[in-house]
Order: sequence, then C-alpha cells, then structure tokens
Amino acid sequence: MAGCSHPGADGGDREMDRFVDSLLSEMTLEEKIGQLNLVPVDGSAMTGPVTESATGDRIAKGEIGALLNVMSPAKMLELQQAAVTESRLGIPLLFGMDVIHGYNTVFPIPLGLSATWNPESIERSARISAVEASAQGVNWTFSPMVDISFDPRWGRVAEGSGEDPYLASLIAAAYVRGYQGDLSRNDQILACVKHFALYGAPEGGRDYNSVDMSRQRMYTDYFPPYRSAVEAGAGSVMAAFNDVEGVPAAANEWLLGDVLRRDWGFDGFVVSDWDAVREMTVHGIGDLQEVSARGLRAGLDMDMASQGLWGTLKASLDAGEVRMEEVDRACRRILRAKYRLGLFGDPYKYHDTTRVWSDVFTPEHRAEARRIAAESFVLLKNKDRLLPLAPGGTVAVIGPLADNKPNMLGTWTMGADLYSAVSVLEGLRTVVGDRVELLYAKGSNLTYDKEMEDRVTQNWGVPYKHFDRDGRSAAQLEAEALAVARRADVIVAVMGEAAELAGEGASRACLDIPDAQKALLKKLTRIGKPVVLVLFAGRPMTLVWEDANVDAILNVWFPGTEAGLAVADVLFGNAEPGGRLTMTFPRTVGQVPLRYSCKSTGRPADEAGTIRAYVTGYIDETVLPLYPFGYGLSYTDFRYGELELDRTQMAPGESITASIRVTNTGERPGSEVVQLYIRDRMASVTRPVKELKGFRKIRLEPGETQRVDFTIDAEMLKFHTPDLRYVYEPGEFEVMAGPNSARLSKSVFNAL
Ligand code: BGC
Repeated sequence: MAGCSHPGADGGDREMDRFVDSLLSEMTLEEKIGQLNLVPVDGSAMTGPVTESATGDRIAKGEIGALLNVMSPAKMLELQQAAVTESRLGIPLLFGMDVIHGYNTVFPIPLGLSATWNPESIERSARISAVEASAQGVNWTFSPMVDISFDPRWGRVAEGSGEDPYLASLIAAAYVRGYQGDLSRNDQILACVKHFALYGAPEGGRDYNSVDMSRQRMYTDYFPPYRSAVEAGAGSVMAAFNDVEGVPAAANEWLLGDVLRRDWGFDGFVVSDWDAVREMTVHGIGDLQEVSARGLRAGLDMDMASQGLWGTLKASLDAGEVRMEEVDRACRRILRAKYRLGLFGDPYKYHDTTRVWSDVFTPEHRAEARRIAAESFVLLKNKDRLLPLAPGGTVAVIGPLADNKPNMLGTWTMGADLYSAVSVLEGLRTVVGDRVELLYAKGSNLTYDKEMEDRVTQNWGVPYKHFDRDGRSAAQLEAEALAVARRADVIVAVMGEAAELAGEGASRACLDIPDAQKALLKKLTRIGKPVVLVLFAGRPMTLVWEDANVDAILNVWFPGTEAGLAVADVLFGNAEPGGRLTMTFPRTVGQVPLRYSCKSTGRPADEAGTIRAYVTGYIDETVLPLYPFGYGLSYTDFRYGELELDRTQMAPGESITASIRVTNTGERPGSEVVQLYIRDRMASVTRPVKELKGFRKIRLEPGETQRVDFTIDAEMLKFHTPDLRYVYEPGEFEVMAGPNSARLSKSVFNAL
C-alpha cells in the first residue's frame, strides 16, 4: 500500500510533488478518474457494513475519491478504513460537508455574521466550526460562500456577506484563516470558496439563473472576495451552477483557467457544484460525455454527484477529446489537497471519536455563539428609546417564531440538533424570567398559505425546520394574542421569515413579512401599547409599514444556537445590538437590485431622492432605500465631527490621513462602526458615487471621544478599465466618513 511510508503535511512542496508524482505513476486510469469522483453515500452503506455495500465496493475498486454529507462519524471511520485498507493504493478519502455557519454550535447566518463588521468574530466562528466538524470526521467544508449580491430576492444572500466587495473580501479571508489555519493539526479543515463565479447575480434574483455582465463589472464588484479567499490560501474552489457569458461556470475556460489559475495563481482543486456537470446537458451545451470533457479541459477537477467525469472520461480519452495530461492534472491537484491535509501521513487523523466528548457544543463555543449573535443584531428603529427594556412589568411575547427552536438556526445546519437551539421565549425566561412577567401567544401561523409553509418547513416530505402548524383558525389565534397583548406593558412581536424561506432555492418575489404575521402585527400596533418587532430575516426585507408604525425594530437575522439568550440579552440591555447592515434594505421590491455604490448617471436623482420625471428613478417611488448600507442604531448616541485631511494634495508615493472625531454623547458605553468612503470625481470611465474603502469598529465610554484615522494611498484609488487594466488616475477625490453610507461628512483632495 502506498500509504505506508507517507510523510505528513509538514513536508515541503517539493517533497509533496515527489510523493504525488510517484503515487500517480502507480495509478491506473480508472483509479485516477476515481479520484475526481465526489459522491453521496448509498443507503446500504449507512445501514449495514460498509464493506458489503455498493459504496464500499466502489471505494475498494478506487472509484471514489471523496464523499459528501455523510452524517455519521462512525460510518466515516468505516468508509475511511475501506479506502485505506481495501483499495489497491490505500488513498484516503476526503469527507466534504456544508459547514456554513457552525456545526453543532450554530452561529448567525453568514449575512448576519457580516453585519458584525468584525472579521475577528467571523474567523473565530469558522475556527469553532472547524474544531467541531473535524471532531466528527469532516475534513473539508463547502464554505465560505463569498458571492456578492445586490438582490434580496435571491434567497442565498443569507449565505453571503452582503453587497460590498471590500468588506466581503476581508470577511472571505477571515473564514479561510478560521477553517484552515494550520492544516497539520487535526482540528482544522480544508475550505472551499464558492460559487465561482457571479452566482449572486442571477437575472431576476431567481436562483441558478443566467448571469451576464461586463468583465469590468465582474472585476470591480464581484471578483474581489473570491480572489481574497484564494490569496488567503483556500485549498479548493467550487464552480457555480450558473453560466457566465454563455458558458456554465463548470466548463468556463476563461474563469477557471485564465482568471483563477493564471491571474490569481490558485493551486488548489476545483469541484463542481451538486450535479452541475450533468446539468450542463440541460443548459444545452452538449451530451454528458461532451460536457464532462469540456469541464475537465477548462480546469474542473472534481465532479460533485453527477458521475459525469467517472462515466465518460475514458471514452473521451479514447476519442482524443481529452488528454491524459488533463486527467493527471486534475488527479494531481486532488492528491495534493489530501497530502496538505496530512491524510497520507495519518488517514485517521479526523476520526478520533473521543473528541466528540470534549470538543463539540462546549460551553465556550456556545458563549461565543451568544456573543457573536448579539454583535450581528441590527437595531433598525428605536422610537423614544423604547429599547433596552427595563427588567420589570409584564411583557407579551407574540408570534409564530417566539416559541420555535428549529427556525432559530437559519439555513444549512447539517450537523446541528434542530432542538438544541434556545427559543426566544426560553431565552427571555432564562435571562429575565425572575423579574418580568412573561405572557405568550402564538398569534398566527407562519403564513395563511399552508402549502407555502410546507414548502419551507419540510425536506423531501419529512418535517424539517417546522412550525407545528396550529390547527386553530386565524381568528382564534389572533383573539388569543390580542387578549394577551392587552394585559401587557410592552408587546414583543417575534416574527419574520422561516429559516428555509431564505437559502438555496428560496428566492422570493415579495419581501414582506409573511401575510398572517403582518396582519397580526397591524392589529397589535393598534392596541396602544409599545410594540417591539424582533425580526427574523434571511435577507433585506421591505419594512416601510413597520418602520412607520412599530416603535422598535430589532433585526436578528437567524441567530443560531443561542438565539433566545442573545435576543434577551439585547432586548434588556445586557448586550448592545452590535450590527450594521451589509446590504441595502429597499423600500419596495420594485427597487431591486439596489446598492449604495451606484453610479451617477447623466440625470441623477437629488440627495433627498425627490420623485421627478426624467431623472434616474421611478415616477411612483423614491430611489432612496429604507435603510442604507452600513446603517444600524446603537443604545447610545455618537456625535461625529468634521472630516479632516492632513493635506489636500497627494503627491506620487505619498499618502493622506483622513481623521474624524467620534464622541459618545449618550449614557451607555457603546460600539460604533466608523466608515470611510471615497468617490473619484472625474475619471476616464464613470465611477461609483461612493465606495467603502475602510472602517474601524470602536468602543466608547459615555462622554469619551476618539479620533479615528484612515490612511489613503494611491492603491485605494485604483479601478478597472473596460480593457481590464487596474489603473490609478490622478484627479480630484471626495473622502467621506460617518456612521453609514447615507450620513457622511465630506472633504476633497487632489491626487497628483
Ligand atoms: C449548493 C452548494 C453546496 C452543495 C453541496 C449545492 O446545491 O449550491 O452550495 O455546497 O449543494 O451540498
């Protein structure tokens, strides 16, 4: 067996190449193609001995290089044993899994994590995810998803880091560091950057839909986070489902070859998305043999689930449609990843079954999840400082999300026990139950539409993140809730989307709070008691009515395992709502896609967004969003001084320091995200009206002032031309700083 004398992950690249080349030279064609094959496990392998199953048989023959979403650590060990001891060359398997925002301990959905504006917290969440997943056999996660999106109809914005390429790039690198760190350890795992490329820009916000745009826009708005993750050392990249310029990403030579490998120097392996190789036949660019060959030639190395490469590459070789070097190239990249993980040195390093007792769902991990959840919450409105609530009196907790556990977690939580989450009601009882009289009523179902509720609460017909639909009529549910609400001093309405109303395959054409809940909320606001809306959302939602009629709105995304505790912490002021929006919240669906970094046009709307004919906008709605990018209130107040520049001319090689003083004028300590934007006033191409170029998260005591400095240099002023040169052009630049993208103090400088 070639595995016996294998070195660990710490050997240098030369040693690795020697090892991999020698292994390759021993492999048959079938064994090589087998390495490119990533498959789900068959049922009989899960229920009986692996060696007697179809999967076991295939592993023994070397037909499988990696498995995905195997949920049992004991089975993973058995499968790995089959690969190491039963197959001719003993090449260990990769075990991939969608570990997206935690494993057993679940953190906020990635969009929520991005709202922390804190790459360190995000790195920490990824690190904990890696520790927990690796304790249970997983050595490869299909994360981070770094797709930029300006379109909240697209359900997968829940899985990304919002609309800004600069912020998302910092976050992308943080995830990679958190997952991979030092791969010689047994508690760090391989990352997979996805979905390359442009998956967040489907036409109409419809998942999987076509993407077409200028290359200049790709480079400016969409590519930076992928590149940042690659530069942070991500070991693998997942090709997207969508086509780009008419060629599906999994066979797109320009994307996989020119951009990813030649220009960015990516040296890991590329895996397709689920069944995406076969789906290219549905895209209509060839039969299975042809699309598989095209994928391989373009630089696709591994086929997830479709078996297209496995079933056809031999015939393509015989027909001269692919070359042996191309098969070797893909196989080599996968073997190198296994080598880097140290699997040849110790194929069982991720199968230490004792770690599950010490490393999983620990009090420390849960405490981090609770802290980070509060850091992700965005306070959208707080009339008359209703929040934080004083711990006393009677609080009516109302809504279908108040006493629900599975829906606290958000989308993609494969490793989590759905009932391990703390519900909002439970969290409130734990945190303030001894001081506050808590009343509860469900008030409504998720929606009036039972079929829609089933669609988002069942998985292939099996109850999943469900709501236990209440059999009472809407009128009965409502009457109970209104009676409860009348007895309280404050109403806390816990409402919004179900976990699976956002995520893959969950694009929405309407971004309102679902009908039954919204109708109930309207009635609650008419009672005459203060109303706090605790909003669960996997995307920016349309909240114009809520903003006008509800006293306080706390957007909590999907907070994860410690949801209820974090919500209680923030509602009662034990923690502050630390989040700021990373996606613009539109007023209406008709405005999307919507972004803060738009261009001026020749007929721009004015800053007040006045509705006028013959300027860019609508005749029936302003162009302004409801809540801008970067927005989020605090429990204290911050006063911003004027933005000052240390000079107004920047000579070549020089930099400018932009400074702004921020004072906490309120009575509580608080943190603030001070944001820096730049506008290029005149350039050879049109440029955005502002682009985020820096930010600092600061914490101030009451009365404290801090001067925040940003260094501006020529590198920050560069942009992509239509012919894709990345250039610096001298000229006049506006610098802006403030608490969000719509409240900024300005200065101007000249760059020579
Ligand atoms: C998703 C990927 C995911 C894969 C494996 C696909 O449907 O698009 O993001 O990693 O499934 O579960």
